[in-house]
Amino acid sequence: MKALIPAAGLGTRFLPATKALPKEMLLVVDRPAIQYVVEEGLASGADEVVIINSHEKKAIEDHFTPDPAFVALLRERGKDTYADAVEYVGNLNVSYVYQDEALGLGHAVRCAAEKTGDEPFYVLLGDVLVPDNEMLPAMQAVSDAHGGASVIAVMPVPDEEVSRFGVIAGSEVGPGVWKVDSLVEKPAVEDAPTNLAVFGRYLLSPRVMELLADVEPGVGGEIQLTDALDAVLEEEEMYALVVDPEDGYDTGTMESWLATNNALFGRR
Ligand code: G1P
Repeated sequence: MKALIPAAGLGTRFLPATKALPKEMLLVVDRPAIQYVVEEGLASGADEVVIINSHEKKAIEDHFTPDPAFVALLRERGKDTYADAVEYVGNLNVSYVYQDEALGLGHAVRCAAEKTGDEPFYVLLGDVLVPDNEMLPAMQAVSDAHGGASVIAVMPVPDEEVSRFGVIAGSEVGPGVWKVDSLVEKPAVEDAPTNLAVFGRYLLSPRVMELLADVEPGVGGEIQLTDALDAVLEEEEMYALVVDPEDGYDTGTMESWLATNNALFGRR
C-alpha cells in the first residue's frame, strides 16, 4: 500500500522564506516538516511513500537520498548520533512523481495513479503533522470493519470556518464514525451540511483514483479530490472518522507553524 504526499505547492504564505527552500523543508523542532509525514505513512502500514513533487523542489529529494560519504565523515569525527540520523532518513522508502502544473489536489493525487495501481492508498496532506502516528491505523480499522470502504478523517470546526475545507454530509453510525452521504468542497456557511471538515488524512479505494481522471475543475478552478470522493459515493460506501483538533499539529500558517514548533518541542 502506498502513502501519497502532495508537495508540489508554491508555499506562497511563507514567502520569501520558501523562495529557495520548499515549504515542506521548513524546520519543525529537529527535522523538516515533511519528514514527520513520511514517517507517519511508513508507521501506518504503507510500504512506500510517494511524494508528489515539482521539479523545482529538489531539496526534498536531497533530504531523503542516502549520503554514505557524509555518514562516513560524521562517524570518523565521532558524531555517531548525527550519522545515525542522516543514515535513517536516507533509508526511508520514498519515491517521487511530478506535478508541474498547479491544477489542484485531485490532479496532484492523480499524478500518482501508476504507483497505486489497483490497491487502496493513503493521502496525507503535509500542512498537518500527526506525530503520534495513530490516525491512519484508526482509519484502517474503520475500513476493515466496513468491508474495506474508503475512510476519511474529519474534524469539527466552528461554522465560520467551514468555507476553508471540504465538508461531509452523513449520519453517525457509531461513536465518532459517520457514514458519508455526500461531500462539498469549501461551501458557504449557509450551504454546509455539517461542520465536519475534511482534515487531510484519507484512506481511499482504487476507484477514487480512476474517477479522478474524469473530474472537471471545481471550486477555485481546481481539480478537487473532494469531488472525486463525492462521485465515488454513487458506487461505494465511505466512512468518516471524527478526530480531535489536538490530534494534529497545523503548520499551514506562520502562527500555527510557530505554535507547532513550541508544542512539539515541549513534548520532547
Ligand atoms: C484541502 C482539501 C479540503 C480539506 C483541506 C484540509 O484544501 O481540498 O477538502 O478540508 O485540504 O486541510 P486546501 O487546504 O488545499 O485548500
